[in-house]
Amino acid sequence: MLRRNVNNKERINGNADIKTSNNITKAQSNLRNINAELQNATKYSTHRLWTRAVIATSLMVVVYFYSQQRHSKETKFALAKEKLPLRIEKFECSNGYKAEISRYPNCVPKKCGRFVSDQLVEHDEVEVLLDLASKILSMAGSSGGASVLNLHTGALSYKEQFVNAYRVPKVVAELKQYQLGIYNSVKNKIKEAIAEQFEIPASSLYLTDPTFFSRLTNATAKTMNDEYWHEHVDKDTYESFHYTSLLYLNTYQKDYRGGRFIFIDGNDDNPTKSAIEPKKARVSAFTSGAENLHHVEQVIEGERYAITISFTCDPDQAIPDLQIKNYN
Ligand SMILES: *[C@@H]1O[C@H](CO)[C@@H](O)[C@H](O)[C@H]1NC(C)=O
Repeated sequence: MLRRNVNNKERINGNADIKTSNNITKAQSNLRNINAELQNATKYSTHRLWTRAVIATSLMVVVYFYSQQRHSKETKFALAKEKLPLRIEKFECSNGYKAEISRYPNCVPKKCGRFVSDQLVEHDEVEVLLDLASKILSMAGSSGGASVLNLHTGALSYKEQFVNAYRVPKVVAELKQYQLGIYNSVKNKIKEAIAEQFEIPASSLYLTDPTFFSRLTNATAKTMNDEYWHEHVDKDTYESFHYTSLLYLNTYQKDYRGGRFIFIDGNDDNPTKSAIEPKKARVSAFTSGAENLHHVEQVIEGERYAITISFTCDPDQAIPDLQIKNYN
């Protein structure tokens, strides 16, 4: 377009050298004006097109990032590829948690928070616990996506209900003294770490119920117990909880897909996520109040194994360590 105008202009200028008539000159000057107007119009509309394109693109970019931010602003608290001696984050406790835990003065944390450590528990210990959980859960298990084994109460998922594992001879035959010894000693290491990180004496913490093995899969939920992915506050679900811990027995993206642990921070208008990618022998622990709202993402493929180990400050809610004398 622009190029054709330039050619016209040259042709008109060339004609001017030959023709001398006034009329022709007038016509020529008219033409020149029209030509200049045309050229300006062309320039202007091209410019306007570009302006519009730039504005539209910028708007799209802004809208895209804004929507990303609103819906999935996420930080990674712990990646599976990291080997973390300790990563800890502290913040104010929720008011409800603060009020309730103040009934147990020795147990009140300096600050609330969450931590992850990959160096508390040995891989060999985890192998033993994973072997125990996978053997027993493969004998039973939920028909939906979440199966549990609670060695303290005996509760074992079976199809759409629970059975007492201690009434199932082949399950009891699987339980070995050394496994339960490891279970207890791993629990104690985690309790010591919680006490240290939250700056309270370990003697003020008691194991509480439920403390259990879990196996999560992508199977369609059959009962409420299978719906493990809802956002929740542990203390709302289990009143006795003050400190929650998890020991992961296998690894995200290696043994299963999905199944990350997500804290939901910020407020309703501007939620932010903080993700823990589970890995074998990783421990995560956190205060159980509303300051640690969380959920587990649905497993897409494979089997995700973990142990939830729960602590209370209330001696009346304490449960005893596993008794090992009754087993093989
Ligand atoms: C569920 O997981 C299994 C393996 O664990 C996989 O073969 C299957 O494709 C998954 N199903 C869906 C719907 O993703």
